[in-house]
Amino acid sequence: MLIHGRAAAQVPDFEDLAQKDTSSPEPGTGRGRRHGTSSTEPFDRWFRYPAGFASDYVELLLDRLQLPKSSLVLDPFAGSGVTGTSARRMGHSFYGIEAHPAVAELASLKLLPPPANPTEFLACAKDLVAAADRNSSRLQGNLGSEADLIRRSFEPSVLAKLVAVRELIESGQAQEWSLHAKWSLLSTLRDVAAVRVGWPYQNPSQERKALYSDPLARFLQRAEWISEDLSGLTLREDEPDRRLQAVHGDSTKLRSWQPLAGDLGDGCVSSPPYLNNFDYADATRLEMYFWREVDSWAELCSMIRSKMITATTQQSRVATALAATQKLVKFGDVATKIAGLTKELEKERVSRKRGKEYDRVVPDYFASISDVLTNLAANLRPGAPVVWLIGDSAPYGVFIDTPAIISALAAQVGFTAEQNVILRRRGQRWSKNTTRHTVDLSERLLLMRRN
Ligand SMILES: C[S@@+](CC[C@H](N)C(=O)[O-])C[C@H]1O[C@@H](n2cnc3c(N)ncnc32)[C@H](O)[C@@H]1O
Repeated sequence: MLIHGRAAAQVPDFEDLAQKDTSSPEPGTGRGRRHGTSSTEPFDRWFRYPAGFASDYVELLLDRLQLPKSSLVLDPFAGSGVTGTSARRMGHSFYGIEAHPAVAELASLKLLPPPANPTEFLACAKDLVAAADRNSSRLQGNLGSEADLIRRSFEPSVLAKLVAVRELIESGQAQEWSLHAKWSLLSTLRDVAAVRVGWPYQNPSQERKALYSDPLARFLQRAEWISEDLSGLTLREDEPDRRLQAVHGDSTKLRSWQPLAGDLGDGCVSSPPYLNNFDYADATRLEMYFWREVDSWAELCSMIRSKMITATTQQSRVATALAATQKLVKFGDVATKIAGLTKELEKERVSRKRGKEYDRVVPDYFASISDVLTNLAANLRPGAPVVWLIGDSAPYGVFIDTPAIISALAAQVGFTAEQNVILRRRGQRWSKNTTRHTVDLSERLLLMRRN
């Protein structure tokens, strides 16, 4: 069959990616997307984003989709751009949308055309280090204007060096390498912090030994990796015609798709936020405060978190949940299913002294996902395959089959669900009333196809 001049690929099979038992490794690195972006793979290692894919896993998925060379791959939840860099390595074009401004900046930086002389960046980083070393003693007694979280996270001598590099970058010393220097510095922070800053949340009240004692040496190491990864990029002959773009935006909104200017995607590999109360904005608080992108918790919430799909109770609002429930009505049976879950969750909430508002998250989450699916359908060519990795969840023991609900919503906005593969099982405990019990949760791969 020919679809828009292209032969329709055979339905790829993902069943063999299912983990046989909890001890057997997943294909690719064996990491799937379980532990965030890799700290060793080129480009992934620029910054370890905890929500990120492992790039070799994405390559494996893209390979299974058998897209013709130079296909346009879409990712409405682009994160740190792992689908983008994988698509580039495989000779494809890419368009991704990411709501977190800093994470979108990182994704977009990774996808810039290869610089003519990437080793210049290393020379620039060395100059920054030499100058920062000279300036840092002046700064050490002068760190009072740094945010409390930042002052509590580092030894003063370490912080003075970090701030000295930041000041040099801000004053333009890194010239065209400013963003590369910025990300080398931001990814150094967790390496040299003297308190617990493990993902997802920073805890400045718990001390730990810094993983690396010399912030300037670590910054240089990170700059070296970036320079190496850029040097490894070969400017392919067809590269100038390839779109490689990650934008800061909200994929529920049509305007975020407008830069595509009518080009239709040939496939999609993505992973939406899970309904698991993981707060992507809070998780990057250390970096946001250090770079002074935000000055307060309220600013972090209004500038970053409020633009993301509601997947945490902290984002939930009564009015938004009600509006979402109304909006979902047109989806018929699946809306009834979501409304039923909402009721159960409300019952659980009110039965607790300080119950969490999962009942307000769920309708909002699925209404937003339906918007993203609608926009994705409008921007994919007929027959295009879509792979989404997504887990189910069970707040207060109420099982929410997120992948099945997403498939049902997708079926009503122009997709056919082809596979729903359990990649791995992850037992999880939730307290229901006063008894604790285990709900068997799983991470799934959804294969859908644009009709
Ligand atoms: C599971 S992560 C995907 C990470 C990505 N696969 C990677 O490798 O880095 C989901 C991402 O969706 C982003 N996000 C949340 N709401 C969004 C929205 N409305 N539009 C675009 N991105 C959004 C989050 O900030 C997060 O980075």
